[in-house]
Amino acid sequence: MPVNEEWCFKNARSTEQWTHGYHRYPAKFLPNLVKKLIEDHTNPDDLIVDLFAWCWTTLVESKVHGRSSIWVDINPVAELITRVKTHPINPKVLHEIVNNFLISFQSYREEDYLKIQAHERLDYWFSSAHKGKIAFLYEKIDDIEDVYIKNFLLVALSNILKNSSKWLQSSTKPQVDPKKIPSDPFVAIQVQLKQMLRKNTDFFNALSTSWYIETSCEIRLEDARNTTIESGTVSAVITSPPYVTSYEYADIHQLTGFWYEYMNDLSSFRKKFIWTFYSLNQDTTTSTKIGQDIVNQLLEKDPRTAKEVANYFNDMLSVGKEMHRVLKVGGKTCIVIGNTTFMNVKINSAEVISEMLMSIGFELKDIIKRSIPYKLIPTIRDKKTGRFSKLENSNSKMVYPEEFILIAIKTCQ
Ligand SMILES: C[S@@+](CC[C@H](N)C(=O)[O-])C[C@H]1O[C@@H](n2cnc3c(N)ncnc32)[C@H](O)[C@@H]1O
Repeated sequence: MPVNEEWCFKNARSTEQWTHGYHRYPAKFLPNLVKKLIEDHTNPDDLIVDLFAWCWTTLVESKVHGRSSIWVDINPVAELITRVKTHPINPKVLHEIVNNFLISFQSYREEDYLKIQAHERLDYWFSSAHKGKIAFLYEKIDDIEDVYIKNFLLVALSNILKNSSKWLQSSTKPQVDPKKIPSDPFVAIQVQLKQMLRKNTDFFNALSTSWYIETSCEIRLEDARNTTIESGTVSAVITSPPYVTSYEYADIHQLTGFWYEYMNDLSSFRKKFIWTFYSLNQDTTTSTKIGQDIVNQLLEKDPRTAKEVANYFNDMLSVGKEMHRVLKVGGKTCIVIGNTTFMNVKINSAEVISEMLMSIGFELKDIIKRSIPYKLIPTIRDKKTGRFSKLENSNSKMVYPEEFILIAIKTCQ
């Protein structure tokens, strides 16, 4: 199948536009792509849902287009960031409180914070001097009464945690950089807030002039396999699920997760996520023929990955059924998904998911192939070992050079 140039967005506008740039995150859903799906497949009164909403792209774009939307994701850090990204604050009020917050740094006394109690994993990532300053910032933010402004500042603090820690700056995987000089949290948060204040003002002004500021945007921290969305109410699902063998999504925001006490134990947190290497599921059967062929080939090479891939396909079947339940008859699902190769086995997730959709009552309307111009996703893998690798290695291969957009319609109850 040839690449469809219309969907490649080679001159894509910045993924940092509007409030998209508040917080770092990998595997961005390209705003242009979501914009085109919304414009081609939805109408102004439609309700749009993203079941793996992660970096909130679908919600911000729905709001800019005046469509109501529901965000679903299992990650509480993503939930916090989404609340802030989709709720612009009156710039005048915000500036005043942020200024007072910045002035309060003058009252910091290091000796009061050197013995603070925080999760043991945080001792691993932060020096005690930086830990003290972060604890102070967290305490000051907690004193703020206005919940929108409190959350705005929590997002600012969350986004500087990596810079102020020993985490290797260029890596999304948890890895210490022994040579790193972490940023001072007081300096880093000032820079971060300056940028966020500017973006908030732009977003507030843009939405006020188009009257979309009141467009509803619901946020539900739930499992995509089993949501509380009412049956038959949704016009379109626009989503990009986790890609098989890609990120360990539970690990990416662990610094925030531990600081804000969203989790205490990483291994049980990981088990809630679709696609993880740590579910340790033992099942090797899956419902579609193409999916089972892939699992059987993997079983010969790497049984653990075979089980996790079978688990992924079975989870995606549950998600497909949930999509079918929440959609109206005639409603559409638009799924962006990538195929990959692991130890020379082709994992054609797009084909597997298409087969699943048809088996549960969807009619497949279109499959669009697009190349990925820019995406912060691990791209190179060693063909023999399956490990992430460097391009200079002659044995290496692009992991996700292109992806597919599946468009399917719910034709009956
Ligand atoms: C690739 S991201 C999705 C990309 C996203 N659509 C965007 O805007 O870039 C995958 C997301 O799936 C979420 N996720 C994983 N398991 C989930 C589950 N069981 N229910 C809901 N969300 C889940 C992760 O937290 C992560 O945010």
